[in-house]
Amino acid sequence: MLQGKTILLGVSGGIAVYKAAELVRLFVKAGGSVHVVMTANAQQFVTPLTFQALSNNPVGRDLFSMDSESQISHIQKARMADLVVLAPATANLMAKMAAGIADDYLTTILLATTAPVLVCPAMNVKMWEHPATQRNLKTLCELGYRIEPPASGFLACQEEGAGRLADPGDILESSIGLLTPPTLAGRSVLVSAGPTREHFDPVRFLSNPSSGKMGYALARVAARRSARVFLVSGPCSLAPPPRVERICVTSATQMRDAILNLSSEQDAIVMTAAVSDYRPARTAAHKVKKSPEDLSVLLEPNPDILASLGQIKPPGQVLVGFAAETENITQNAQDKLVRKNLDFIVANDLTREGAGFCSDTNEVKIIGRGGEASDLSLMTKEEVAANIWDRVERILSGGDIESQQ
Ligand code: CTP
Repeated sequence: MLQGKTILLGVSGGIAVYKAAELVRLFVKAGGSVHVVMTANAQQFVTPLTFQALSNNPVGRDLFSMDSESQISHIQKARMADLVVLAPATANLMAKMAAGIADDYLTTILLATTAPVLVCPAMNVKMWEHPATQRNLKTLCELGYRIEPPASGFLACQEEGAGRLADPGDILESSIGLLTPPTLAGRSVLVSAGPTREHFDPVRFLSNPSSGKMGYALARVAARRSARVFLVSGPCSLAPPPRVERICVTSATQMRDAILNLSSEQDAIVMTAAVSDYRPARTAAHKVKKSPEDLSVLLEPNPDILASLGQIKPPGQVLVGFAAETENITQNAQDKLVRKNLDFIVANDLTREGAGFCSDTNEVKIIGRGGEASDLSLMTKEEVAANIWDRVERILSGGDIESQQ
């Protein structure tokens, strides 16, 4: 995800410095080349050696170093960065940036760089809420800096409130977003994900093992490409990706209502949810007690959400379905594509190793309206998602002739 990208991580002096070490690890794991620059105060919390070992690159810390300044190192660093991330960014660093002060290695780089800069503040809640900090924050936004807002919770200073450094995973996600071309900017998309639960009493339900991973990967990748993303999710344990508007539902009828409410404004809708085809005809108000008798549960059909979307599809909207199959994959998927009036369908064979429910990978076949099929090899669900959005983008821009047949 960060292959071939150089990230300059600026670390200023607050207790959250230790979390920046985890961030370096995440950047490196994602394939990025990381160069760390520390302020003098940051070095009081964690030694440069930690960051050097994790990043595998020397740590910049001294504006007047005889070794590095022979090559005007701060200008070099400013030029080499594809992205600058400031984590943690202290109130003092934010104040200097807002005023344009450049009195150390990090702040000189910040004036010299033309790369996007992601500011991740971390400080005491009172310092964060202080009008001076809030004024500086506003100035930084006006100057074009991107902000990863601090999280709320219990702070190192034993106070409760906003000021915790954002989760390193969220900082990584925002960094990837800043380095991804905004090919879906101005577009609104909706993705459904996960299973539905059909209760027959308050504590028991019919469902399936869908983990939601494919839908969440689609939502994450669309957000990276700058789409406005709605994620209508059945019950699952995944955290919502940053910058995604998640609507949580339980049953198929709740999912249908949530989706139909938003559908007309969407440029594209991708239904990955494993919607339960049936629900109990009656739901008991209280827990059903056991008895020695056999128990039958009468099931009635649930609405087919995708088929409804196919009937009311506004002109220009791209509608994508999934077909989870165990036999006659291509034929069954093609039938669904026609029956539900889709632009294309993504078929997967649930019997294959590494494909389908719960797995982090998927091996799918994409079938278009003209019947043309392309087989994608086994890849991560994020890579499958990227392929799906590439195809959606081609149709939206009028470039995919076959799918318009
Ligand atoms: N789908 C839906 N509403 C349903 C059932 C399915 O919107 N009640 C959507 C799924 O999200 C998926 C597509 O329709 O995008 C195909 O789902 P799938 O379960 O493979 O097929 P079904 O239409 O349910 O047909 P069958 O169970 O007979 O294979």
